[in-house]
Amino acid sequence: MTTKVLVVFYSTYGHVHTLAERVAEGASQLGDVDVRLRRVAEFDSVRRQLESSDQYRAAQDKQKDIPEVTHDDLRWADGMAFGTPTRYGNMTAQLKAFIDTTSGLWLNGELEDKAAGVFTSTATIHGGQESTILTSLVPLLHLGMVFVGTPYGQNQQILVTDGIGGSPYGPGTLAGPDNAREPVESELATARNLGSRIARVAERLKALRE
Ligand SMILES: Cc1cc2nc3c(=O)[nH]c(=O)nc-3n(C[C@H](O)[C@H](O)[C@H](O)COP(=O)(O)O)c2cc1C
Repeated sequence: MTTKVLVVFYSTYGHVHTLAERVAEGASQLGDVDVRLRRVAEFDSVRRQLESSDQYRAAQDKQKDIPEVTHDDLRWADGMAFGTPTRYGNMTAQLKAFIDTTSGLWLNGELEDKAAGVFTSTATIHGGQESTILTSLVPLLHLGMVFVGTPYGQNQQILVTDGIGGSPYGPGTLAGPDNAREPVESELATARNLGSRIARVAERLKALRE
């Protein structure tokens, strides 16, 4: 049976969007995997605040055709990856606002035993690469999901290369203080590895839910 992987992200300036595409690519590289790429709704207040920024408008324009995530996407998925830039070491309010609408799913245990991973972007290397993923994990554990990181075996570059994003907890990129740095290949490789690992784990976890 087909394994279904949802990649859902919020991205202000495009870095997390780029990683999301690689996570989706990694998941779809496995046979018999169906992948959905979805975005979290932007806040009107943030849109108004940033509409004069060329960087913001360009990044939002690139993602405008990606459907907004719904509860049915969460129900559909066997495994899911959540992408968020850091906000002081935590996920964005936009992603948290969506997660905070899932109490009905939680009450019915509908997301239990589904595979979940997290990927992120920070301005600087010490700005929350690890804490953002670890703190994002808390609500996912309440919902009963099974966490999938990016461990050492497949991802040695994240541990041996100075000055790049990513950790054993999940993929990450560095946006730089002006959001102008682009993700480098080893960061993108780790994102692909998360996608393929979520698909593999999700496929095996399906048996727990039957
Ligand atoms: C309110 C706010 C808080 C932020 N906090 C941090 C932080 O604690 N550490 C850090 O490295 N970057 C921080 N950033 C920078 C963002 O993480 C950066 O813009 C983001 O990684 C870019 O990803 P994106 O292109 O997907 O939006 C913050 C940005 C905003 C707007």
